[in-house]
Amino acid sequence: MRRRDPVDQFLRDLGNLFRARRMYPSGNEQVTRAARKAVDALAAVGDQVRIARIGDDLVVEDRIVPDPPAAVLALLDALSSAGREGAQFDPDTRPGDLSAWVERVVAGQLDGFAAAGIRTGSLHLTANQGSAGMVDAAAGYLSLMPGVRDALSDLAEERSGGLVRAREIVRAIAGQLATGEMLMNPIRGLKTHDDYTFTHALNVCVIASAIARSMGLHRGLTDTVGLAALCHDVGKEKIPPEILNKEGALDAREKAIMDQHPLHGAALLLRLPDRIDPLLPVVAYQHHLGTDGSGYPARPSAPRIHPASLLVAVADTYDALRTVRSYQRPVSEREAFAIMLRRWRQGKLHGEFLGVFADLLGVLQPGDPVTLSDGRDAFVAPVRGPDPLRPTVRTRDGETVPLATCTDLWVETLGEP
Ligand SMILES: [Fe+2]
Ligand SMILES: [Fe+2]
Repeated sequence: MRRRDPVDQFLRDLGNLFRARRMYPSGNEQVTRAARKAVDALAAVGDQVRIARIGDDLVVEDRIVPDPPAAVLALLDALSSAGREGAQFDPDTRPGDLSAWVERVVAGQLDGFAAAGIRTGSLHLTANQGSAGMVDAAAGYLSLMPGVRDALSDLAEERSGGLVRAREIVRAIAGQLATGEMLMNPIRGLKTHDDYTFTHALNVCVIASAIARSMGLHRGLTDTVGLAALCHDVGKEKIPPEILNKEGALDAREKAIMDQHPLHGAALLLRLPDRIDPLLPVVAYQHHLGTDGSGYPARPSAPRIHPASLLVAVADTYDALRTVRSYQRPVSEREAFAIMLRRWRQGKLHGEFLGVFADLLGVLQPGDPVTLSDGRDAFVAPVRGPDPLRPTVRTRDGETVPLATCTDLWVETLGEP
């Protein structure tokens, strides 16, 4: 018979302890025995175990447990009723402390509780909140910021737990996108440079999650893409602040240092004590590489770029273009998209992901004014062609041009509707 994974064994025993305490009074032999068993299982893990309930999932460390024991979910429900979303157990937790903790969870009174080796946390995240609308969406968006700041700081300083926090943010974003929250809207406003690192990480995460969701990718992959997007620039923490926060454009030497951030990010994510999805360092390493292999870090031969990296690159490019910089004229949403169209034609951005993003942004939709590469003004025709980036258009002089079949004509700029 196959032996159960030590973490799974601990989850089962922890659940049994919770169930036993709900059935029997405190101090009962069954409860004491269950506590001892759970503590032995924890010691067998030999490492900290963090558990959290996120939506319908039980997350342990950075993985979603496929068939969580019902009693552990019930325990986490009780925990969340007490305002705590997760708990962390040290391997040397004592049976008395664990049963005292379970006691408090059952009673729903964790305020002021302290025991060596056990921590419970409030994540300050609100998933699935309120109805759609700008105000709610902005509130939802802003509520994510402290979590992003904590998660990225933990990751950058290679403290364990950063990834668990990051995954919680991604789940909260997925939850808001799933309920139709217009989470994209607050992102659409122009931003200043304040708090750029965190705002940028969150925006790229939201956009990448929205693209992945629109493409119908399965949930596990959508979450991983979101997580990779949130962490894509984590290597910037290793860039000297005078270069990272420089007001003007970077000189060649500074740019060479800055261009190392994908490498730093991948190295940092690979070093993390948490078990991580291999896609995270891949995306951190590749997010400045184009579909054609151009970009940085430069490679001797054209690398194979993972589609997740190309998806994140679309989100990253957009957010970077929309950030106001002191040395750069603000770029409108439609101007930013036109620049991205050019980068797609140059083989840098991936057409399929950009096409999905066009729909999310609501550009190149029927009736949208565009200027073609031969200078003619046109409107996107009502018929939807096979390629959203090369729609059929109707010129002002009445000619209908299916751009999908033209090799020498394309949308050059977007007019303001
Ligand atoms: Fe980057
Ligand atoms: Fe970035």
